Parts: sequence; structure tokens; C-alpha cells
Amino acid sequence: MSNRGNFSSKIGFMLAAAGSAVGLGNIWRFPYLAGTNGGAGFLFIYLICILLLCVPVMIGEIAIGRKAGSDAYGSYQKLGGGKWGYLGLYGILAGVFILSYYNVVAGWAFGYFLEISFGNLLSEPDYGSFFGSFVNNIPPLFLFSLGFMVITALIVAQGIAKGIEAANKIMMPGLYLILIGLIIYSLTLPNAGAGVNFYLVPKLDQITSKTLFYALCQAFFSLSLGMGCLITYGSYVTKDQNIVKSAAIISIADTSVAFLAGLMVFPLVFSLGAEPGQGPRLIFVILTQAFQSMGPVVGRVVGGSFFLLICFAALTSTISLLEVPAAYLVDQKKLPRKPVVWGVAGLIFVLGLPSMYSQGIVPMLNKLPIHNSPDFLSFISDLCDIALVTGGCLMCFFIRNRWKVQNLHTELSIGNASYAGSFLQSYVDVAITWICPVILTILSILVILDKFVGLEWLFG
Ligand code: PHE
Repeated sequence: MSNRGNFSSKIGFMLAAAGSAVGLGNIWRFPYLAGTNGGAGFLFIYLICILLLCVPVMIGEIAIGRKAGSDAYGSYQKLGGGKWGYLGLYGILAGVFILSYYNVVAGWAFGYFLEISFGNLLSEPDYGSFFGSFVNNIPPLFLFSLGFMVITALIVAQGIAKGIEAANKIMMPGLYLILIGLIIYSLTLPNAGAGVNFYLVPKLDQITSKTLFYALCQAFFSLSLGMGCLITYGSYVTKDQNIVKSAAIISIADTSVAFLAGLMVFPLVFSLGAEPGQGPRLIFVILTQAFQSMGPVVGRVVGGSFFLLICFAALTSTISLLEVPAAYLVDQKKLPRKPVVWGVAGLIFVLGLPSMYSQGIVPMLNKLPIHNSPDFLSFISDLCDIALVTGGCLMCFFIRNRWKVQNLHTELSIGNASYAGSFLQSYVDVAITWICPVILTILSILVILDKFVGLEWLFG
């Protein structure tokens, strides 16, 4: 295990895992989902999903990785034998597809950062149409996304301690600083209170059956669960680390960033008198308009910081997404790390091209002939959501029926002397044996139906 590399410190692992979790999911997706799904009601259900379903899955993943000391495929294979390795491969593939479209959206954010900080973006008359032409102007987008992938690969190629850990140690504190600065600013804007009110006071009539699916998928996505990322990171964790405590800290760090992102975004949206339910365009269109209204200097500083924040967040996630397939090839195929990282990064970049071309410029990719006719990017993102929830569900069955919960407990008590016999142990026990497998099975089926055929016939 020693030549695979390890995180050099406990805090290094936690920052890297929190870095994986904190990403576009928190700052781009969470606010727009909350915006279209009833604000505070969404937040409330989201928190329940995290506590009840996500934290146990996270604990399970880290424990599997540390016990087996291998990539996602190798870990399931080692602890489960038989065909269990395929469950790891399922996750690795999901990660590959997530990174393919994620890197495209990261490219948009990178482009916005450059355009606001060094360009003329803040003098546009109409940000809706600007965004529409921006995401279809392929040559610059190609470069922005390629640039993002190259930076990701440069870091991952350096290895665990010198690459991934070092980058996260700089970016994560930077991210928190920028975020707090932006919240303080946005809370002082006129009409900020209406935004806070929308975000924090639940309106029960706005909670629908869909709110639950969106919240669940978002929670899995945001915590980077169900695709072997935390198994892979867990495999670089030393035995003195307290896994349960780490999982709690990572979840709190991730949830607090999502929560704070909402607290920054909604006051800005309401200060403009804009509509919060804008979908994926929310931060690109409405917030940019808000930055413009701040005047050329303040707008540039605040807007530039905002998109830099998004780039940092996205980068700490793309790093973890690239590490998963790279670790698989290094561990299983015994290939050298650097060429593997560059090769996989190149391949995933190419795989992302249909997503890049799906925003209107190629009509066929813009409206796929299935339920709700999504564009290719949204379609891949939906498929990946399904993969994460089902992957997490199957992991629970793996622990419950194959590896056995007792072995999980044994692994969790290493580095945590007070675990055995504690309340936490009973919680993990019930969660992994009953709550997660049962609820996640039902929800997996409903999520699949929802994405492919819709659920209106069931819930009205
Ligand atoms: N958690 C990341 C985010 O919120 C996305 C991600 C998903 C990263 C799965 C790794 C694995 O943006």
C-alpha cells in the first residue's frame, strides 16, 4: 500500500474529501434547485436526506476503501470477491461521465471569471441572451474547458500528498474566505431580507413529491457519494483516522457551503427583484446582472471573486473525479500514474464534447427524443444522478449481505476507541442494515421512473 501514496495528515484527507464534496453542486446546482423547489422546504428535506441516508453511506464508503486499500473496483473485489468488482466499475464509469459534463460547466464558470475580471462582460445590455450565445460560442468554450481539464490533470498527476492534498490545502480556505466576504456583502443590499425569507421560511404548499427526489439526488451528488470517490480517497487514509468523525466533518463542511451559497445567492436575486426559479441559468444570468448593477469597479471585484470561488470549488471536485478512474488503472493495470492521468483526462474531455455542443448549436443534442426532451448535458447529468443513488443503495447491500456489518464496525473502531458499544454504532447498524437499503431501493426505483417517464401519473 505504501507505494500508492497516502494523505500526509488527517486534516489533509478531510480537506481533500470536503474539497471533492464542495463543488458546482453546492454553488451552482443547490441554489437553483432550492430556487425552483420552494426554497426553505427544499433545504429542510435536503438536510433530512443528509442525516438519515447520506452520512451512513459516506461512512461505509470510506471504511471499505481504507480496509481494502485499493481503488473502487479493487476494493469491492478484495472484500467481496466474485462479481462485486463490477459494482466498483459501475461507480468509476459514473465518475467518468460526471466529469465529462462537469468540466463543461466548469469551463463556463472559468470563462465568466475571465470575462468579468479582465473583459467587458459587465457592460452587456441583456444577460439572458448573452448567456445563450456564450454557451454556443464553441471556440472559446473549448479552450476554457480544456484549460480546466489541464489544470486538473496537472494537480492529479503530482500524486496524493503533493498534488491533491496540497492543492486542497490552499483552495479550501480560500473558498471559505471568498464565500463569507460575498455573503456579508449581499446581506447589506436593499431587499436582501426578502431573499433570506424565501430561503429560510418553509412554505409547505411548495413542497411536492418531486422535492424529495431532487433533494435526494442533490444530496448524493453534493457529497460525492455512490461512485467510489470516497472509497478511493479512503484507500489513502491511515489507520489512526477516526472515520465516523471525519464523515461528520466532511458532511458539515459540504452542507454549510451549500447553505451559505444560498444565503449569498437569494439576497442578490431579490435585491434585483428577479425570480428565483430560473433553473441552471440562475447564477450566470441573474447574478451577473446583479454584479453589473454594482458599478464597474465593485462589480468586477465582487463578480470576479464569485466566479473565482466557483472555479476553486469545481477544481477540488474535478480533481477527485479524475482520481477515481486514474487510481483504477494504476492499481489494477499497474500503469504509471502520470501517463494514465493525462490519457484519462484527454479521453474524458473528448467525451464531454457532446455536452459542450448540446446547448443549441447542434439541435439534435439540444432536444433528445425522450421524456421532457432534455439537452444532452442534462440527460447525462440525470443518468449520473441515477447511478449515484443506485450505487449508494447497492453499497449498503454489499455491506449488509456480503462484507457484513460486523466487519464495518471493526473497521470503524480502528482509530476510534469509543466506537464499540456506542450510540453511534447502533445508528450505523440500523442505518446500513435497514434504513438505507429499504428507503434507497424505493427511491432508486422512483428516481428512475421520474427521469424517464415522469411520475405525474402516480402523484398527480
Ligand atoms: N460533489 C461535487 C459537487 O458538489 C460533485 C461530485 C460528484 C464530485 C461525485 C465527485 C464525485 O459539485
